[in-house]
Amino acid sequence: MSILAEKHILLGVTGSIAAYKAADLASRLAQAGAQVDVILTSAGEKFVSPLTFQSVTGRRAYTDQDLWGNEAHILHVNFGKTADMLVIAPCTADTMAKLAHGIADNLLTVTALAADCPILIAPAMDGGMFDHPATRENLKTLQSRSVLVAGPATGRLASGISGVGRMIEPAEILGHIRMALGRSGKLAGKKIVVTAGGTQEALDPVRVIANHSSGKQGYALAQAAIDAGAEVCLVTAPTALIPPVGARVVHVTSAQEMLDALLNESGDALIMAAAAADFRPKQAAKEKMKKRDGIPQIQLEAAPDILKTVSGSKSGKRRFKVLAGFAAESRNLLENALEKLQSKGLDLIAANDISAKDAGFGAETNRITLLFAGGAKESLPLMSKTDAAEKIIEHVARLLE
Ligand code: PMT
Repeated sequence: MSILAEKHILLGVTGSIAAYKAADLASRLAQAGAQVDVILTSAGEKFVSPLTFQSVTGRRAYTDQDLWGNEAHILHVNFGKTADMLVIAPCTADTMAKLAHGIADNLLTVTALAADCPILIAPAMDGGMFDHPATRENLKTLQSRSVLVAGPATGRLASGISGVGRMIEPAEILGHIRMALGRSGKLAGKKIVVTAGGTQEALDPVRVIANHSSGKQGYALAQAAIDAGAEVCLVTAPTALIPPVGARVVHVTSAQEMLDALLNESGDALIMAAAAADFRPKQAAKEKMKKRDGIPQIQLEAAPDILKTVSGSKSGKRRFKVLAGFAAESRNLLENALEKLQSKGLDLIAANDISAKDAGFGAETNRITLLFAGGAKESLPLMSKTDAAEKIIEHVARLLE
């Protein structure tokens, strides 16, 4: 997660039961390489101790006692000047009200008032409190001052009642932080369409022809494009993955549906990481095929070649300035990839060596060689799909320059 590496994040924790989840958020941020300084309000301290945060961030956590310590006169100003972002999670109705009205009566609110970095809040409170006109007004005021608001979600609240007011999960808050940090990245103002997952071609109402794509590479590309500031549309075949925060998601099942979805999209680049079917049953049975009827004879036909159709259609090249594909090959990697680069009219292809277990379908890592339309070639070592995605996105950004 290079977007978070070396970033200085201030994490404010206020008095809500969701404070226990803030420890998970702090841990995720620290694991992603961020320098995390936690500031607890006195009510926040009642739910989780500073020691919890110190243990997961490796840095001391601050409390209101520090407001009156030796460095008090500069601590909040320093925080506000050096931080890349102030995240308040959970953010209670009380802290929201203080932020909206410029009240600075504890270390967190005084820091917020002195901060020139972006501020993101993840509200957490009971449904009635969130719906109260005062809270609604405060929320509007904060949004009008460009404070980013993540959540709240609907669900079971501390009162036992279900409603809107639950803090969103740490993984989702992390997604909002990444999106906010990436806003001025290399792809700011650009729209990138990414496809992911393995398509499914129906044999009958219950059976499909599928493949082993997990969607990991495509989802990593969508996240890397968001980290670089792009507006992202993720066209995804069925996967078990949670889409990155900020992506507009279009769900498809078959290769035909993927093609139809792409023909409705336009943007600066299309990156086809999906494993789309090359063949599909000529006719899917309307009813479930029965075992007692014997082994079915299934006739196959070619599925549409999505990239070829998009790059070959009159409007295709105009709708996407850069077309990038993958070539998953178990032999003659570079020859086959080069043939696909040329025949599909691509600017870039990631030749994906799937002959080893540590790369390709379902794996956590990929071993890729990038081939460019101009003849250039770059071999990447075995790396995580996240790192591979970042490399590909860097090249796409360069091609768009
Ligand atoms: O999802 P993961 O588990 O993370 O695995 C990642 C991956 C192996 C699926 C991915 O990294 C990858 O290599 N994707 C391409 C797989 C593939 O279908 O390759 P291909 O050589 O058959 O197709 C070449 C290109 O044409 C691909 O960009 C593909 O999306 C596209 N294609 C394929 C079939 C089709 N009908 N239309 C297409 O446009």
